[in-house]
Amino acid sequence: MCGIVGIVGTGPVAERLVDALTRLEYRGYDSAGVATINEGKLDRRRAEGKLVNLRGVLAKEPLPGNIGIAHTRWATHGVPNETNAHPHFVDGVAVVHNGIIENFAEIKQELIAGGATFETQTDTEVVAQLLARYRREGLGRRQAMHEMLKRVTGAYALAVMFEDDPSTLMAARSGPPLAIGYGRGEVYLGSDAVALSPFTNEVTYLHDGDWAIVGKDGVFIFDLSGSPVSRPRQITQAAAYLVDKGNHRHFMEKEIYEQPEVISHALSHYVDFAERRARFDSGTIDFSKVTGLAMSACGTAFLAASIGKYWFERYARLPVEIDVASEFRYREMPLSPDQAALFISQSGETADTLASLRYCKEQGLKIGAVVNVTESTIAREADAIFPILAGPEIGVASTKAFTCQLAVLASLAIGAARARGTIDEATEKTLVRHLTEMPRIMSRVLNLIQPQMEALSRELSKCKDVLYIGRGTSYPLAMEGALKLKEISYIHAEGYAAGELKHGPIALIDENMPVIVIAPHDRFFEKTVSNMQEVAARGGRIIFITDEKGAAASTLPTVATIVLPEVDEIIAPMIFSLPIQLLAYHTAVFMGTDVDQPRNLAKSVTVE
Ligand code: G6P
Repeated sequence: MCGIVGIVGTGPVAERLVDALTRLEYRGYDSAGVATINEGKLDRRRAEGKLVNLRGVLAKEPLPGNIGIAHTRWATHGVPNETNAHPHFVDGVAVVHNGIIENFAEIKQELIAGGATFETQTDTEVVAQLLARYRREGLGRRQAMHEMLKRVTGAYALAVMFEDDPSTLMAARSGPPLAIGYGRGEVYLGSDAVALSPFTNEVTYLHDGDWAIVGKDGVFIFDLSGSPVSRPRQITQAAAYLVDKGNHRHFMEKEIYEQPEVISHALSHYVDFAERRARFDSGTIDFSKVTGLAMSACGTAFLAASIGKYWFERYARLPVEIDVASEFRYREMPLSPDQAALFISQSGETADTLASLRYCKEQGLKIGAVVNVTESTIAREADAIFPILAGPEIGVASTKAFTCQLAVLASLAIGAARARGTIDEATEKTLVRHLTEMPRIMSRVLNLIQPQMEALSRELSKCKDVLYIGRGTSYPLAMEGALKLKEISYIHAEGYAAGELKHGPIALIDENMPVIVIAPHDRFFEKTVSNMQEVAARGGRIIFITDEKGAAASTLPTVATIVLPEVDEIIAPMIFSLPIQLLAYHTAVFMGTDVDQPRNLAKSVTVE
C-alpha cells in the first residue's frame, strides 16, 4: 500500500519526510519520492526500490525547503520506476496519491485532446494535470482543488502542494485513510498516525469525502460539497508500534477497513484497468489447455477457493475438484497431468495445504499458489505464484486476505475464460469494469453499514446459535460468515446452502434462532426468498443481507435488513463479505473476547 507524508515546517523537511516514510515501510512499496518548495520552485528526488536508494539520492543532491510531501509507492498503474514514482509535477502542482482514480483513462483522453502531454503511466498524473488546467483557466488553489475532486472518482488519499503557496498543503480522502497532525508551529499529513508519530501524537483523521487546507494559519476541512466541517482532534498511541492499528481498536477492524485499498492494489497486478482486460503471468500453467482444476485450502482460504470454483466453472467452463486440504491429501483422488492445481493460503505454510500440493505435484499437475506470503514454502514449491498482495494480516480471523484471495481468483477465472474462448472480449471488459469499481463500492459500504452492524451485534451477542444461509457463491459466503462469528465471538454458528435448509437445519428453527440470509438480487434470489419464507413461517428471526432491489422485492418480516448497493454477481461475494465481517467483529467486541487472538486459534497452522 502506498504511504503519504507531508510537512508544513519551520525548518528543512526532506530528511524528516523520509524518516517518516520509514515508518510506513511495513505497508510494502516499490519506489519512493519526496518534493519540496525551495526558493519558490518545486523540486523533487525520487528512486526506484527501497528508501535507502532515495536516501542515497538525497545525500548526493540534498533537497532544501521547509514544506514538502513524500510518498512510498506500491505500483498500481504503471511499472515501478523513477518516472512513475510520486510526487508528480505538472506546471507548479505537486501531487502524491494513494489509491486508484477509476475514471483516469477518460480524463486522460480528454486532457490529451486538449493538448496536455503526460509524462507517466500512472492514474495519479490526471490529478496533477487537472489541477494545473484549472489553475491555467484562472481558478484559485482552493477552487481548483474542489473542481478536481468533483471530476475524479475512485478510492484515494491525496496530498497536493502548489508552487505559488509555500505555506500550505491540500489533502483529500475518499477511501484510504489520511490524518492531519499538529505540532509546534508545524502541521503534518500522514497516511496514518504511525507515520506522524515522530512529530506529534495529536491528530485529526479525515472522514471519507473530506478535503482539507492544511497550513500554519490553520487547518480547514470541507466536505465534498465544499461546506466547512469540523472533525475532532485526538491523541494517538501510535508511537509504540511499527505495524500499528492506526485509529482502530483491533487489527481485525483495521484490516476490514483496509480492504478497498489492498484490493485495488491486488487487482492492479491482474487486470489492466485502462484496457479492461485480465492480464497476469500464469507461468507454466496454460489455462487454455488444461482440462480441469483441482483446488484445495484450509479454513477461510478454503471458502475463498469454494467461491472461486463457481467462477472457474461458470466463466472458464473448467471443471473444478475441490476439498479441504486435510481430506484432499488422503483421498487418493485420480488426477491427470493435463489438469492444473491451485492452492490458496494466506501464510503459504499451512501443513495440510502443502501436503495436498505435494500430492498433486507427484501426479504431474502444474501447481499454482495463491498466497499472501510470497517467500513461503507453498509459493516456493509452486510452478506459478499468484500473490494476493493483501499486506501483513495480523488478526487471526482472516478478512482482507479472504477478499484479496477472491479478487485474485476472480481475475484468474476471467483470464482463463478468455484464454479458453469461453467469454468474448466484451464480456471480459464488463467483468473487469465491475472489478475496477469494487474498491470504491467497498469504501461506500463500509461507511454505510457500520452503525447498523454495531447495533445488530448487540442482538447477536445474546444468541447461542446462529444459522447463515445462501445460494450460489453466497453459500460458501454463508459458511465464511458462520466461521467468522464462531472464531471470534465463540457463538455456535453454521453456514448452509439455503436449499438444504429443509433437509435438516429447519428442525432447529424457533423464535430464538437468528437466521442470516445472504441474498443479493441475483439468479437465485426468488429461491432464497422461498427458503426465507420457510424460516419466517416457523417464527425464525431473519437478518436479511441483500441489495436495494432485493429489499424492495421482499415483504417478509425481518429483525433487520441490511441493504447494500446492487452489484454484479462477480463482485457480490466481496461486497457481501463486508457485513458478515463487521457483524462478527462487533459481536466479538461487544462480548469482550480477544478479537485479534481468539482462544485456541493460530494464524498459521503448520501442523497436521
Ligand atoms: C487458520 C487461520 C485461518 C486461515 C487458515 C488457513 O485456521 O486461523 O484464518 O484461513 O488457517 O490458513 P492459510 O494461511 O493457509 O490461509
